[in-house]
Amino acid sequence: MRVERLSHDRVRVLAPAKLNLYLEILFKRADGYHELETVMHSIDLSDEFVVERTAGSGIEIAIRGYPAPVDGSNLIAKAAERYFLVFHRRFGLKIDLQKNIPAGAGLGGGSADAAGMLLALHTLDSPATTSNSRSDAIAALTPIAEEIGSDVPFFLTGGTAIARGRGEKIEALSSEQSPNFTFVVVFPRVQSPTPLIYKSLTSDLTEHKRDLHRFLSSLDSATDRRAPPFWNRLAAPFRRVFPELARLQDSISNETGRAFHVSGSGSALYAVVADAQEGERVRTKLQAMAAGDIFLTRSLPRQGNEPRSW
Ligand code: C5P
Repeated sequence: MRVERLSHDRVRVLAPAKLNLYLEILFKRADGYHELETVMHSIDLSDEFVVERTAGSGIEIAIRGYPAPVDGSNLIAKAAERYFLVFHRRFGLKIDLQKNIPAGAGLGGGSADAAGMLLALHTLDSPATTSNSRSDAIAALTPIAEEIGSDVPFFLTGGTAIARGRGEKIEALSSEQSPNFTFVVVFPRVQSPTPLIYKSLTSDLTEHKRDLHRFLSSLDSATDRRAPPFWNRLAAPFRRVFPELARLQDSISNETGRAFHVSGSGSALYAVVADAQEGERVRTKLQAMAAGDIFLTRSLPRQGNEPRSW
C-alpha cells in the first residue's frame, strides 16, 4: 500500500490487489464464518485514488475504470464512516477512484481500497490520532479494518502474509520467505459471489487437510521459474457453481501449458510464467481465445512497493 501526501488536504493512494497462493479451510465456525489458513500475496495491479478533505460532511465518490458502487455501500465509504465513528471525527471527503482491479474477482480490490482509505484518513488526520508511525497506524487501524471485511487487515501491510481466523489474523512473511513471481491473471468478466461459494462447500470440508508448512517450504525454494503447488479449497465449489468457468480454466491451462488457479472465491484465474516474454506469449493466446481481461503482473514486496510497468 502506498500513501502519499500531495498537500495539506490531499492524499494519493495506490492500493494493490492480492492473490491467494494457498487457501485451506479448517472448519466452519459457530458464527457462520470459516476458519482459514491462507497465504495472501500482493501483486502490482493497483487501484489508484486521491482523497481530498472538503468543507461540510458529505462523502462524494467518482469512479473510472471497472464499475463499483458510488454510494455508502462502497467499501471506501464504509471505511470512512467507521473511521469517523471510532475516532469521533467528521469532515467532508471527495474521492476520485481509478478502479483497475475488477470487483467480484477474488483479487481483494474493495478490501484494498478500504485499507487504503483508512491509511489515507490517518495521514490526513494525524493530529487526531496518537501517532504518525506506520506500524502504530496499522495497530490502531486493524480493529476497524477487520470490521469492514475479513480481508481488509492484510491490505494495511501487504506483501506476503499468512492469514488465519476468518482471514483477519496476519503473520507477515519476511522478504526472504516471500516468493517473487511473474503472473498472468485472467478476469473472465463474471463476478463471483463470495458467500455463495462458501455456502457451496459440502463434502469439501471433510476432505484431508493440506499442510501449510509443507506449502511454505515449497515457497522457500520457489524461484521465478518453478511454481509451487498452489492450493485453494474454494476452487472445487467455485467450479461447481460456475461450470463454464471450470471449462475455461481447463482450456486456458491446456492451451498455454501453464496451470491456472482460482484466487480466493474467484472468478480471477492466475498462472505463473517464467518471465515477461512468456507472459506476452500467453497473453496473445488468451486474447485469441477471448478468455477475458488479461493482466501481466508481478509479486509486490512489502517494502519498496513501487509500481512497476512492463
Ligand atoms: O468478511 P467478509 O464480509 O469479506 O466476508 C464475506 C462473506 O464471505 C461472509 O459473509 C461469509 O459468507 C464468507 N466468509 C466465510 N468465512 C470467511 C470469510 C468470509 O464464510 N473466513
